[in-house]
Amino acid sequence: MGMNIAIDGPAGAGKSTIAKMIAKKMEFIYVDTGAMYRAMALFLLRCRVDPQNAEQIGEMCEQADITIRYENGEQIVLLNGENVNGLIRTQEVSNMASVSSAHPKVRAKLVRLQQELAARESVVMDGRDIGTCVLPDADVKVYLTASAAVRAKRRYDELMAKGVGCSLSEIEAEIEERDRRDMTREISPLRQAEDAVLIDSSDMSAQEAAEAVIALCNAQAL
Ligand code: DC
Repeated sequence: MGMNIAIDGPAGAGKSTIAKMIAKKMEFIYVDTGAMYRAMALFLLRCRVDPQNAEQIGEMCEQADITIRYENGEQIVLLNGENVNGLIRTQEVSNMASVSSAHPKVRAKLVRLQQELAARESVVMDGRDIGTCVLPDADVKVYLTASAAVRAKRRYDELMAKGVGCSLSEIEAEIEERDRRDMTREISPLRQAEDAVLIDSSDMSAQEAAEAVIALCNAQAL
């Protein structure tokens, strides 16, 4: 039997960095569920769906076939057969994903795909509802967070390193808005599962946070 690790938390808490480190160390597959919601958002943007029109989102999402594949350990998201990894990290896609991921049909479709993957392989899966909804029986559940100020600063540094000019206060405001949407939506809102371990990474390096999760996995395997 494989082992499944669920990592949830708000945007910018370091989930993907830490999940990738754990996957490498444990030789598990890393499943970035946010990328799936982003691919769906890209599809909806391309279809010029109005983000306020829930009915339209429900209809159009049926036409998006989203699958994932692994190349050299990296997750590739395919949208109707097209590799969209390079197109889903824009602000526009982030904002659409935050809105469209609240739609029940979008969630039902992607949750099914995530559960199928976890049933086949040992996975480290990160997202917002992994411990609460996608993998309620995960062997290890972590709720990874950090203060909004720290998360905004990390994002700011990332963008500056890429040469993208940006404003720290705008990024912080956007992060807070996304948190609010993710935590207050009706279906599968972001929240800590009762049996999840809380890790606040505000004053931790990624390495330290990854080691804390690996220690939980080792304790579980005893
Ligand atoms: O983790 P991320 O920023 O790539 O996620 C993009 C959006 O998708 C984010 O607004 C929350 C949503 N999401 C979700 O609702 N459920 C998940 N399991 C993962 C992401």
